[in-house]
Amino acid sequence: MRLLPDTLPMTTPTASTPDPAEAALYRQALGSFGTGVTVVTTRWDDQDWGMTCNSFSSVSLDPRLVLWCIRREASSIEAFTRSDGFTVNVLSLAQQALARQFATGSLEQRFADVAVHRQPSERLRLADTAAWFDCALHQVVEAGDHHIVIGRVLRFACQDTPALSYWRSRFGGFGVQPA
Ligand SMILES: Cc1cc2nc3c(=O)[nH]c(=O)nc-3n(C[C@H](O)[C@H](O)[C@H](O)COP(=O)(O)O)c2cc1C
Repeated sequence: MRLLPDTLPMTTPTASTPDPAEAALYRQALGSFGTGVTVVTTRWDDQDWGMTCNSFSSVSLDPRLVLWCIRREASSIEAFTRSDGFTVNVLSLAQQALARQFATGSLEQRFADVAVHRQPSERLRLADTAAWFDCALHQVVEAGDHHIVIGRVLRFACQDTPALSYWRSRFGGFGVQPA
């Protein structure tokens, strides 16, 4: 082991409201954790809802539980925390445009010209994704400026297609790494 001096004390926040430069650095540090990209959908108030999300993660294999986090201020917070479930659509490499489309605009604009399937749960599932998980709402945990939304997986599927990645605010693909 080579123990080196810790030369980066600037990343230690001191105040509860950090200065903007430190907050940007924090976001940059979080963005170093590369993820896949999903579009989460639900059906609420006679409408289809959808938003881009990269906070998706598996929680438990038995029972099958997954989670994602939604910003408290999101206009779809009610839809995702009060409806009876949600569908996680794991985007394929070819679906980068959908990642952008579902991050802005009205619900109508988000679903415009998007190929979808209506599931038995009534929720929409996007076509040609790398994988999807249709979930019953299990628990909502309030955590800071986000809510953690936990779902119990009802149905799922995946196909052998490369997934879209997100790293440091950039979309890409998962390359094969040397051993
Ligand atoms: C790649 C990417 C990942 C995102 N992940 C999340 C996320 O995990 N949770 C979240 O609340 N917003 C996330 N967003 C932002 C939302 O997609 C965006 O704020 C949302 O679509 C606005 O929804 P609203 O109309 O409900 O406010 C992400 C955006 C992008 C581009």
